[in-house]
Amino acid sequence: MARPKIALVGAGQIGGTLAHLAALKELGDIVLFDIAEGIPQGKALDIAQSGPSAGFDAILKGANAYEEIAGADVCIVTAGVPRKPGMSRDDLLGINLKVMKAVGEGIRTHAPDAFVICITNPLDAMVWALREFSGLPHERVCGMAGVLDSARFRHFLSVELGVSMRDVTAFVLGGHGDTMVPLVRYSTVAGIPLPDLVTMGWLKQDRLDAIVQRTRDGGAEIVGLLKTGSAYYAPAQSAIEMAEAYLKDQKRVLPCAAHVQGAYGVDGLYVGVPTVIGAGGIERVIEIALSEEEKAMFDKSVAAVRGLVEACKGIEPSLA
Ligand code: APR
Repeated sequence: MARPKIALVGAGQIGGTLAHLAALKELGDIVLFDIAEGIPQGKALDIAQSGPSAGFDAILKGANAYEEIAGADVCIVTAGVPRKPGMSRDDLLGINLKVMKAVGEGIRTHAPDAFVICITNPLDAMVWALREFSGLPHERVCGMAGVLDSARFRHFLSVELGVSMRDVTAFVLGGHGDTMVPLVRYSTVAGIPLPDLVTMGWLKQDRLDAIVQRTRDGGAEIVGLLKTGSAYYAPAQSAIEMAEAYLKDQKRVLPCAAHVQGAYGVDGLYVGVPTVIGAGGIERVIEIALSEEEKAMFDKSVAAVRGLVEACKGIEPSLA
């Protein structure tokens, strides 16, 4: 059987890391696309030359024309600009919306059968716009945020508790921004919910509160350190996990920005929820019971996403 084709739209920091990870995992042949000439070609060649030593078989190609993404099985979109210190994800709206228009039209024309994962920020609004511009079915367009946000939460918890990251599960709902909702009672160490760990004396409540806040600010912390851009290793790894779930029909239960129609009282908006990802794309949105307090936090997050979508409609009349 021919190898799957993976198109990476945007060959910057995340795009290059995605290409490297996809090659190392032998997920398929890879096309790196960018408007910058030479960057995708150079990165593709560099990664391809690591193949003999790393021991992978994959063809890597750099491209500046959308024709090259033709027939892609998976398309991961990072095209756009990242944050600089002092900027919120929302500050990127106007610039990245224009980029989503070009990318969406490129996917519509050349890769209409792909499973599309958007990473470009502000995530929840950009994935909505990308879906509108591409016209693909909602279940085949999603955004990467929850896997990353929950990985950050898991990492901080594992360090705090001195246990393996593999044994920490975490649950994060809502938009990818300051209003995201880390759900402590659905987050566990080997099945033991975090509130029980507080009762057991393993974790102090004030430390847990601080970790929740650090998770919310996880992206900004890295922007503050890097100064010239935003995080890329963990975002790339998170999207690769989602792509692999689709390509291998793993039916993974992963949080992502999915189109929510009815569940959680949301009517047709992209927002972070737990989903099942398999060969059908976003095969299911999982609706869990929320306490009053959790629901209030989630609703606030949804309202923030809705505000950004309305702003997109204001900027780009064809979306209204
Ligand atoms: N079409 C294709 N590529 C584009 C376009 C476009 N219209 N506009 C910009 N690009 C490319 C840039 O040339 C650059 O190579 O997108 C790439 C973005 O790469 P970086 O600037 O390195 O940004 P990165 O760190 O990869 O983040 C990309 O993901 O997490 C989000 O907030 C982040 O929105 C940002 C995106």
